[in-house]
Amino acid sequence: MTTNAIRRIGVLTAGGDCPGLNAVIRAVTKTAILRHGIEVVGIEDGFIGLVDDRVRPLSFRDVSGILTRGGTILGSNNRCNPRHHPTGVNPDGSVVFSDVTPRCLATIRRHGIDALIVIGGDGTMAAAASLVAAGVNIIGIPKTIDNDLVGTEISFGFLTAVATATEALDRLHSTADSHHRVIVCEVMGRNAGWIALTAGVASGSDMVLMPEIPYDEENIARFIDQRMRGPGFAIVVVAEGATPRGGKQVVARMDPLSPDPIRLGGIGERVAEVIASLTAVEVRTTVLGHIVRGGTPVAADRILATNFGFHAIHTLMQGARGRLVVRDNNLYTDIDLLASAGKQRRVPLGHPLITAARAIGTSFGDRPTGIDPASEPSTIC
Ligand code: F6P
Repeated sequence: MTTNAIRRIGVLTAGGDCPGLNAVIRAVTKTAILRHGIEVVGIEDGFIGLVDDRVRPLSFRDVSGILTRGGTILGSNNRCNPRHHPTGVNPDGSVVFSDVTPRCLATIRRHGIDALIVIGGDGTMAAAASLVAAGVNIIGIPKTIDNDLVGTEISFGFLTAVATATEALDRLHSTADSHHRVIVCEVMGRNAGWIALTAGVASGSDMVLMPEIPYDEENIARFIDQRMRGPGFAIVVVAEGATPRGGKQVVARMDPLSPDPIRLGGIGERVAEVIASLTAVEVRTTVLGHIVRGGTPVAADRILATNFGFHAIHTLMQGARGRLVVRDNNLYTDIDLLASAGKQRRVPLGHPLITAARAIGTSFGDRPTGIDPASEPSTIC
């Protein structure tokens, strides 16, 4: 399809929601209408809206005033991959999955949609594959609080999640200090530690446990003992995907209807138990969970979302097909849509933030760390 043939586009948001989705929907819709005179329709609840034919027009007015709103006005879903969609139940109670790509294609044809703007993470881009293979032109926009999409240095939603987690950690500091306790705070992030690392450093937390750096229980206990002999309290941030050395991730539940069925959670409590059993310290656990996915996007995420939305339409109107708009070295560009499908970008071990955090005495639980505060001189010369 040539650029000139694009008269109407569809927009959908898929996967777990995150702050900034509405800001992207707004930027896509306004750019399409104002700059190119293209009609925009919204598809409800991700790919399920294509399966069930739930499509509605999006006007300039519909997207005015939504910049600051959390969530997505279109709804989202992290259970749908058109190639593997639950369509019934077997006599033994197991779910029947079918390829419903033809139903999606029929909806796209019925509504005269010339291209789709798909806003999602690696699972969403993987889910888009069967539509791409069938010839649908899709331009993707990277979304995830986890910041783990391959090909982009940042996804929108991440910075708001970090800001929310940082505020929570700040609050935990004062209560941990007052009670001379250790507080373990578990944060989302799936198999990557971006949120834990960034919020951990931003809040000055004492220990960051993340999937990329397996921890050692003895090192955790030694570090906590040191902290208790010095400041007398400690904040430990634990990414939900963190593991002990040689151990496994803690799975909270399985979601059999989801293409990515594992839901992590519970490692915070495990770490708290380890600390309580190896030290004489009082420990509490807080799990932030979905709190970091809600609420209004921070300014930086609004800017990112607006840039991504504009660039998606710009890329489409340049005649591109099957591309993911990304940010690389502070510049907006695009890569093959499927290059990031089903892959995850983890924190590199040599990341500068890890180096800086280690330099200021933050422990990652993997090795003996820092100065023993009890042996520090009491006066500064
Ligand atoms: O990918 C975003 C995310 O919030 C992850 O950090 C988390 O592991 C997962 O989604 C939770 O999924 P759900 O909303 O299905 O519980």
